[in-house]
Amino acid sequence: MEIIEGIWYNETIDSRKKVLIMKETILKILRETDGYVSGQKLCELLGVSRTAVWKAINQLREEGYEIDSVNNKGYQLNHVPDVMSEAEILSQLETNWLGHPLYYFDSIDSTNNYAKKLAEEGAGHGTVVIGDQQTAGKGRLGRSWTSPRGCAVYISYLLRPDILPVHASQLTIVAALATAKAVEEVTGLDCGIKWPNDIVVDGRKVCGILTEMTADMDQVHYVVIGIGVNVNMTEFDEAIRDTATSLRLKTGEMVSRASIILSMLRYFEKYYENFLEHEDLSGILEEYNSRLVNRNRQVRILERRGEWTAIARSMNAQGELVVETEDGKQHNILSGEVSVRGIYGYV
Ligand code: BTN
Repeated sequence: MEIIEGIWYNETIDSRKKVLIMKETILKILRETDGYVSGQKLCELLGVSRTAVWKAINQLREEGYEIDSVNNKGYQLNHVPDVMSEAEILSQLETNWLGHPLYYFDSIDSTNNYAKKLAEEGAGHGTVVIGDQQTAGKGRLGRSWTSPRGCAVYISYLLRPDILPVHASQLTIVAALATAKAVEEVTGLDCGIKWPNDIVVDGRKVCGILTEMTADMDQVHYVVIGIGVNVNMTEFDEAIRDTATSLRLKTGEMVSRASIILSMLRYFEKYYENFLEHEDLSGILEEYNSRLVNRNRQVRILERRGEWTAIARSMNAQGELVVETEDGKQHNILSGEVSVRGIYGYV
């Protein structure tokens, strides 16, 4: 077995995986080097032949990377396109546990379904599933989530937290804040959050989160948090045309999906650790509430037994929305039990 910059492979590993590790390592080296890297150096670092390096470089070129090659100098990375490949993500992954391992599919029915299947097979905390396209993407409340290829992020995190099942919905809030931070970091857009977990830019939804859990009365077996981000879409289904938008439409530019994912993973890991440390949302409450688009607005609370209106004030450390009715009384609304809508529209 050989160790290559912390990455290992041996003869038992399948050839697809071996090429993937090579591409990931080559991208990492080219990115970290100012100027050219000689073919010889890549061969030595990877422990493979010049032909193998050349083949991996050509595959990367086919995926859209502009890699310059000059005789006696070697290779240089000139341009990174919006590829959301496994190698592109793995070569820049900075997290300690989230995304280790990471499963990537060109097409999958639903990343949440696949993450649940992995969980049933014993996959560990931090496993991540990404799809370039979903053929049966799921939204909240039994709705579907249209998931075309090449223009969005569809990602699921498998978590095995040692928390009570009643607290699991708080993880969705952690994911919402982490995603809002990531989108803001990469695009510079102001990201609000519509309680509990829709990410909103200029009053329109750019991201939805679906959390699924398997638990006993007092023990969580696993939680799958599925996140869909509208990154480079320019069209939407009729049903959501008036309420949805994309990062591309808002910035006027193509946005790198890999950058969004890498930032989402980094922020989620950070906020999740904060959540475990505090055993509630108190450590991220201020940041979350500063983004709450429903704050001090009149909202309709849709319950099974009817609907009523109130003014949304803030979220508390348990993830409940604190609302105030006309008589001045405060009520705590638990997500999952109700839907909250703006009185005049989506927000
Ligand atoms: C919503 O209705 O707002 C939630 C949408 C969640 C969509 C994501 S895309 C990745 C993951 N896989 C799915 O099938 N759904 C979630």
